[in-house]
Amino acid sequence: MIDTRPTLYLSRLLPDPIMAIVRERFQMVHEPLDALPSLSALRKGLCQADVAIVTLGDHIEAETIHAATRLKVLANYAVGYNNIDLAAARQRGLIVTNTPDVLTDATADLTWALLLATARRVVEGDALVRSGLWTGWSPTQLMGAEVSGKTLGIIGMGRIGQAVAQRAVGFRMPVRYHTRQPMATTSLPREWEHRSLHGLLGEADIVTIHLPLTPNTHHLIGARELSCMRPTAFLINTARGPIVDEEALANALKTGIIAGAGLDVYEQEPAIHPALAQLKQVVLLPHLGSATVHARVQMGLVCLENIDAVLAGRSAPNQVQ
Ligand code: DGY
Repeated sequence: MIDTRPTLYLSRLLPDPIMAIVRERFQMVHEPLDALPSLSALRKGLCQADVAIVTLGDHIEAETIHAATRLKVLANYAVGYNNIDLAAARQRGLIVTNTPDVLTDATADLTWALLLATARRVVEGDALVRSGLWTGWSPTQLMGAEVSGKTLGIIGMGRIGQAVAQRAVGFRMPVRYHTRQPMATTSLPREWEHRSLHGLLGEADIVTIHLPLTPNTHHLIGARELSCMRPTAFLINTARGPIVDEEALANALKTGIIAGAGLDVYEQEPAIHPALAQLKQVVLLPHLGSATVHARVQMGLVCLENIDAVLAGRSAPNQVQ
């Protein structure tokens, strides 16, 4: 019997519940691996597919988009979509979708985990206990920075920035935020105050970034911005690595311009700036923002919902362009 199911290209293995749905409902171009495909494998796969799910490590360039003539929809398994040449997709009429909302809580929670781990030296503490060198409680051991009551600076107040701000209530932290325009005050708690970027950097004890990566936000935080921060301040980034100039950050940390940093994302993932790995005042995570079972399954379901809509001739609920 002829298989009439649409052809799907999946660039990476997704969580089991999503794989089960995908295998049942689509003809798979091939069985995906738990590793990034090469550019040529990615291009070949997309060229054979009616619909596709790709991840943030897959760089979908204009050449690939124009070559994939069968492809109707490219569902990006992420909220950020800086990995896709949107102008080329628009030109070619290819629908691109993302996965907003379902990963907001997971990413906001992870931001707080990283913030607390950085300020309270959690990773150093874990290493000390495991080393067998811990000699017991000491009044001066691994003293970190107090978090409760300090000023939280949030750059970017989309869904994730706001979810991070909401979690600050329990820590009694005044929130300063930077967006290009102040948000409508009627929709905001009184404790959230707008600041210019440099005003926020000078005032906050902890600065956390929640912006998309665009040409305007590339290296938004460089040497000049870091020099505006307090020597006791921490920088947290769970958004996109290239928003921070890693070389400038490494210098700022080495010279005491700021106290520490918590990073989940990097300029050249999975490579990291070698100096950052040497510094104890930096906590490094492997891009775990959305990495909960719940969020990763929901992200898959959102991709499938968008694909279904396009195949049924409806508009995709999360089309990004
Ligand atoms: C996203 O969705 O953009 C996240 O970075 C994935 O973890």
